[in-house]
Amino acid sequence: MTAPLLEVRGVDTYYGPVQALRQVSLHVDRGEIVTLIGANGAGKTTLLMTVFGSPRATVGEVYYRGEDITRVPTHQIATRGIAQVPEGRHIFPAMTVEENIVMGTIPIGQAHLDADRQAMFELFPRLKERRNQRAGTLSGGEQQMLAIARALMGRPELILLDEPSLGLAPLIVKRIFEVLKEVAQSGKTIFLVEQNANHALRLADRGYVMVNGEIRLEGSGAELLSNPEVREAYLGGH
Ligand SMILES: Nc1ncnc2c1ncn2[C@@H]1O[C@H](COP(=O)(O)OP(=O)(O)O)[C@@H](O)[C@H]1O
Ligand SMILES: [Mg+2]
Repeated sequence: MTAPLLEVRGVDTYYGPVQALRQVSLHVDRGEIVTLIGANGAGKTTLLMTVFGSPRATVGEVYYRGEDITRVPTHQIATRGIAQVPEGRHIFPAMTVEENIVMGTIPIGQAHLDADRQAMFELFPRLKERRNQRAGTLSGGEQQMLAIARALMGRPELILLDEPSLGLAPLIVKRIFEVLKEVAQSGKTIFLVEQNANHALRLADRGYVMVNGEIRLEGSGAELLSNPEVREAYLGGH
């Protein structure tokens, strides 16, 4: 049996005295799209940050490719094939679109720069059009695309995304989810944190529901979409 690509096992995480994660266990297998849904404040961002070791789990372990990375320094985790697209994008607003894309090579160096930049401009034609524009002048949707492109430039095997649809208009959200599907089809494994349960569960192979720092439910995307508790709490009861 091969180990999951990412496995979180019995993790507790604290901010000072405040416990944000309680005995969280989940896994992501190679080639899967897995989503974690939950309300604002549930602990979704904390979980992604715990995978990157900041804050660190006080109890439990995080495994990547079967190796315990619970205590590996955050900057080293990025060089092992995990990329993070953080909440709120965190692009560099004063740098150009192209410069932001180049920044994504930091974990791996520039050996593949030309080919990979070309591939990003094919995946995101809008970014190509705006390559010399300062990133801070892009729309929210374009900034999200840029954040995804920058993450892909590090040639990650696993991409962690924190609420990529947050604050975007419905049409742009649809486009973001199409892009994630294309990224998955290109061979990447995706772990997606979302409040937008409807889109996320339609895209995902499997999902987890987090409530108050605990995993409440898990199942296939289709199972969770039809689960009465999920429908009531996250899909407006329809
Ligand atoms: N830096 C922090 N310091 C203290 N508490 C925090 C911090 N970040 C998040 N929290 C708390 O941890 C809990 C989970 O937050 P978070 O992981 O951001 O949730 P989500 O991403 O699901 O909205 C919340 O109660 C939040 O107030
Ligand atoms: Mg969050």
